[in-house]
Amino acid sequence: MTIVCALPGNEAMAQQLATILDAQLGHIESRRFPDGESYVRFEDGVDRRHVVLVCTLAHPDSQILRLLFAADAARDLGARSITLVAPYLAYMRQDKRFRVGEAVSSRSFARLLSGSFDRIITVSPHLHRYKALSDLYSVEAVALDAAPQLAAWLTGHVARPILVGPDSESEQWVGRVARLAGAPYVVGRKLRTGDRAVSVELPGLEGFAGRRPIIVDDVISSGATLAATADRLRAAGFSGIGCLAVHGLQNGRDTSKLLEKVDELVTSDSVPNGHGLIGLAPLIAEAFARSAAASPPV
Ligand code: R5P
Repeated sequence: MTIVCALPGNEAMAQQLATILDAQLGHIESRRFPDGESYVRFEDGVDRRHVVLVCTLAHPDSQILRLLFAADAARDLGARSITLVAPYLAYMRQDKRFRVGEAVSSRSFARLLSGSFDRIITVSPHLHRYKALSDLYSVEAVALDAAPQLAAWLTGHVARPILVGPDSESEQWVGRVARLAGAPYVVGRKLRTGDRAVSVELPGLEGFAGRRPIIVDDVISSGATLAATADRLRAAGFSGIGCLAVHGLQNGRDTSKLLEKVDELVTSDSVPNGHGLIGLAPLIAEAFARSAAASPPV
C-alpha cells in the first residue's frame, strides 16, 4: 500500500495524488526548534509501505534538511520504498562552472537526493547542458514533460498566438509547445549581466502583427527575463502580452512587478504561487503508477 505525505506547503498536491492513486494520505508533523533546527515526525505508520514524499523544491535551502530527515526517518521506520515527488527540481541551472571556483551545485544537490530516495519524479527539469537526469542522479529519476499541458491550456484560451521564447535555452520548451498547439514561434537573444539584470533582443517578429504574444519559458525566478521580453514586445507594437511558464518561483513582490508589464501570467501548479492554473497531479500520478509497476522496489 502506498502512503502519500506532504512536506509543509505541498498539501494540495499530496491530496490530489493520494486521491488519483487511491492511496492513503499521511501526515508529517514538522516544526522548527527555537534555534532553527527542524523537527520531523510521521503521524502514520510507514512500515512496509511505499512512501511518497511530496515536496516541490522552490526555495530549497529552507526545505532540504527536513526533507532528508523525513526520508531517513521513513527508511528507519521500515518503508519498502521512498519516492520523492518534486514537481519543481531545484539547482538544475547551475550545471557548469561558469566562473572559476564556483560550486557546480546541481551535482552536489543530486548526490544529496540520490542518497536518500529510491526514485525521484519531477516535471520539466532545466535540462540544458545535462541531457538527462541520469547524467547526475544515481537513482531512478523520472523527468516528465509539461509541454502537452501548456499546449492544451494555450489552445483552450488563446486565439491566434505568436509564442516567444526569450533565448536559445528556451527554444526546446517554446518549440515543443508551439508544435503541439500548432502555433508559430520566435526565439530571442538574452544577455544576463546580473541575477536581476537582463536584456533581450527579439528579431523575427515581422509578419506576426495582430497575433497575441505569449512568452514561454520553463522557469520564472525573479521575473526579469519575462519583463525584459515584454518590454521588447510592447516596443514592437504588440499588446495583450501573456506569459506561460512551467515553474513560477517568483515571490509576491516580483509577481506584482511582472504584472505591471504583462497582461496575463499562467503557470503550472508545480509551485504554489496564485497563478498555477495548469494542474500537474494527473501527469505525476500516472508516472508514479507506471514506474512503480515497472520496477517495484524490493
Ligand atoms: C534560464 O536558465 C531559465 O530558463 C529562465 O529563463 C530563468 O531562470 C529566468 O530567471 P529570471 O526570472 O530571474 O529572469
